[in-house]
Amino acid sequence: MIRLAKPLLGEAEEQAVAEVLRSGWLVQGPKVAEFESLLAASIGVNHVIACSSGTAALQLALAAAEFEPGQRIAVPAYTFPATINAVLLAGLVPVLIDIDPSTFNLDADDLERVLPDVDGVMPVHQFGLPSPIEGLSERTRVVEDAACALGASLGGRQAGGLGVMGCFSFHPRKIITTGEGGAISTDDAALADKLRLLRNHGMARNDDGTRSFSEPGWNFRLSEIHAAIGICQMDRLDGLLQDRTRIADGYEERLAPLRQLGLELPRVPQDAVPTWQSYVVRVPRGRSVPSFIAHLCEAGVEATTGATALHREPAYADLEGCQRPMPGTDDAADRALALPVASGLSDDELDAVADALGGAIQAAI
Ligand SMILES: Cc1ncc(COP(=O)(O)O)c(C=O)c1O
Repeated sequence: MIRLAKPLLGEAEEQAVAEVLRSGWLVQGPKVAEFESLLAASIGVNHVIACSSGTAALQLALAAAEFEPGQRIAVPAYTFPATINAVLLAGLVPVLIDIDPSTFNLDADDLERVLPDVDGVMPVHQFGLPSPIEGLSERTRVVEDAACALGASLGGRQAGGLGVMGCFSFHPRKIITTGEGGAISTDDAALADKLRLLRNHGMARNDDGTRSFSEPGWNFRLSEIHAAIGICQMDRLDGLLQDRTRIADGYEERLAPLRQLGLELPRVPQDAVPTWQSYVVRVPRGRSVPSFIAHLCEAGVEATTGATALHREPAYADLEGCQRPMPGTDDAADRALALPVASGLSDDELDAVADALGGAIQAAI
């Protein structure tokens, strides 16, 4: 089976984990600090706070941003539900924005429409392509959901440095992995202090070595074991990104002829550099994605749907704005098909995926 995703882990990671285990220092030590410095240098920000998942990163960021309960945060209607869950669980009101299905990112006109009525925006760099948010942070508070976007850039600026904070995930389907893990990037020193506090029960060390608790917090720490894996993964980051670009270029070349049968390939705006966390095509209009997934599976290719259309999910269907037409989101939800981007995918495997997809389209028309 050609797998959808396969993280690249090797001897370096094995040794690094063994070293941490032998050291006996498992939590909040030198490995977390080193991992955070490597991330900060790569993203081009002053501070990175590592944490236990991308979801924890979103929750920490919204808590640190000190939105007032009930304030309104714009989120794309097409995303992984962690984005909207973080908003709701922070006591904030999500305002759904439609997407442009050719990029799977925020629809700039729809964003403009809601902007006067929101207190912040949580753009998602969907599948690792930066959202079109140039200049947005001068107009409102922007907390980036950059879960898939480590290494992506927009107009020469790295994802995670485009808003007041950026939230990353290191889940195995992301660009680098620590198993589970996440991080928040920011240039703001006060926010960084607050994030560190909230990550660790709200606990601060006094000058005399005693502890004090100035506000309630969580245990959202990343362990030294996970951070040690992350350090090795950062060594691999350039290579991992290059490999994903090679895979995306390989698909572009092989799938271009299928455009005449109605297949639509992902569009990358000129000023954006994506990570290709996922390579997501849209199947011809009126065809069913599950039948494509089944056909590909029979041909030995693992494929899946894209993100989630939030307005169609029972958890969110009653929220304000969910009855509004979301044509871009509906198009993506009905037609998006994610193809394998497993690291090291060979040319033969790319050929096999393209052939299987061609076969699936022929069978569907
Ligand atoms: C856009 C987006 N945001 C947030 C998350 C949550 O990250 P994690 O799984 O590390 O909690 C994901 C994970 O799939 C994601 O794709």
